[in-house]
Amino acid sequence: MGVRVLVVGGGGREHALVAALVADPAVDAVLAAPGNPGIAAVARCAAVAGDDVDGLVALALSERVDLVVVGPEAPLVAGLVDALAARDVPAFGPSAAAARLEGSKAFAKAVMDAAGVPTAPWTATSDRAEALAALDRSGPPWVVKADGLAAGKGVVVTEDRTTAERAVTDALVEGRFGAAGATVVVEGFLAGPERSLFAVCDGEDAVLLVPAQDHKRIGDGDTGPNTGGMGAFSPVPGFALGDARVDALRDTHVLPVLREMARRGTPFRGLLYVGLVDTIDGPQVLEFNVRLGDPEAQVVLPRLTSSPSALLRAAAVGSPARGDGVASVPVAFDAGAAVTVVLASAGYPASSTSGVPIEGVDAAAATGAHVFHAGTAFDDAGRLVTAGGRVLAVTGTGRDVAAARAAAYGAADLIRFEGQQRRGDIAASVG
Ligand code: GLY
Repeated sequence: MGVRVLVVGGGGREHALVAALVADPAVDAVLAAPGNPGIAAVARCAAVAGDDVDGLVALALSERVDLVVVGPEAPLVAGLVDALAARDVPAFGPSAAAARLEGSKAFAKAVMDAAGVPTAPWTATSDRAEALAALDRSGPPWVVKADGLAAGKGVVVTEDRTTAERAVTDALVEGRFGAAGATVVVEGFLAGPERSLFAVCDGEDAVLLVPAQDHKRIGDGDTGPNTGGMGAFSPVPGFALGDARVDALRDTHVLPVLREMARRGTPFRGLLYVGLVDTIDGPQVLEFNVRLGDPEAQVVLPRLTSSPSALLRAAAVGSPARGDGVASVPVAFDAGAAVTVVLASAGYPASSTSGVPIEGVDAAAATGAHVFHAGTAFDDAGRLVTAGGRVLAVTGTGRDVAAARAAAYGAADLIRFEGQQRRGDIAASVG
C-alpha cells in the first residue's frame, strides 16, 4: 500500500509539490490544506489555513496521513512539525527550534560561525547606537536586516548611509517589522553571483537537489523592487549537480550546519536552502531558508524523475545509522531543463489585485506546460480570478534552457488577465 500525504500551503510551490506527489506511484492519496484552485484539480483540498497548527494536526490525524509536507516557512517557525511529532505524525520540515535557521538571522549567523561555514562578518543588536557603530565598520554598501521573518521586506542593501541609518531606525525605533525587527543584523556586503543550494536533510546527512536560480526583481534587466521571485530556471550553467565544486559544498556548507544543529540538540530535518554568494574568496552563505524556494520548486520538482515521497519520508523519519536516511534513497533528475515564468497581478509587489478574471489557463496547459497556481480563486460565478500578487507560474520543460524557455513563454502568452505583469527575460541570459 502506498502513502497518504498532506501538503500544507496554497501557493505555486505547494502546487508543484502536489503535482510531483500525485505522479509518484508510491503515493496513494494527496490532500492539501488549504490548497488552491489548481491544486483542487488534481487533489482534495481541506479548508484549513496553513498557519492553523491545531487544525492541521487534527486534519492529519483524521485523514490518517503517513506524511505531512510543509511548504511555507511560517508554520515551521510556528511549530507545526513539533505538534505533529507529539501525535506521532511524520512531517517533512524542521522543528521550530531548527527552523530558527530561517526565523532568526542572528541565530543563523551564530550557527554558521560555530560550524565554521563562511559568511560575512556581522553584528546583531537591538540598540540603535550599536547598530550605527556597526555601520561604521561595514559598508558601503551597507546591509541591514530585520532579524525575524518580514515577508521578504526586511533586508536593505544600500550605498547610501542615510538609507542604511533609516533602515536601522525603522526597525529598532519605529517598530516597522514589529517583533521581527526588534533586533537587526548589520553585516558585510558579499560581492559576486548569487547561487542557491537545496539540501534534503535527515538530521545528520544531506542529499543535494539540482540547483535552480530565481529572478528577484519585478522588472526586465533586474530593475525595480524585489519580489518573492518572478521566474526561475534549472539547470544553472556553471553550477550543476555532479560538478566537483558544487558537490563539495555539501561537505563544506551543509554538513557542518547539520552537525552543529545536532550538537545543540535540535537536529535539522527537511529542506535546507542555502543562499550563497560566489565571492572571490569562495562561496559564502548569505542566508538560510528552511523550505523549498518559490518559484524554484516549480523548476526543480518537474525535473525530479525518482520518487519524491521516498525522499521526503526519509528526511522526516530516516536515520543514516539505521540505513534508511536520505542517502539510502535513489534520487534522479532528467537531463533536460525547466524554466518558469511568474504572472503577477497589477500593483505587485507593493500591493496586489484580486477578483480579476483569468483566461487561457487550459490552453496553456494543453501545450504540455505546467501551470502552477499561486494566487488564484474561484469567484461566486465559478470563474477563475486573481487572488494575490503572484498569480500563476508557468513552467516549460525541454532538452535545454532555450527550449524550456520557449515552452514556458509559448504557454504563458496564452494566459490573459487585466494588469498582468511578467518579465520577458527569465533565463534569457542563459538560454
Ligand atoms: N525565491 C526565493 C525564496 O523562495 O525565498
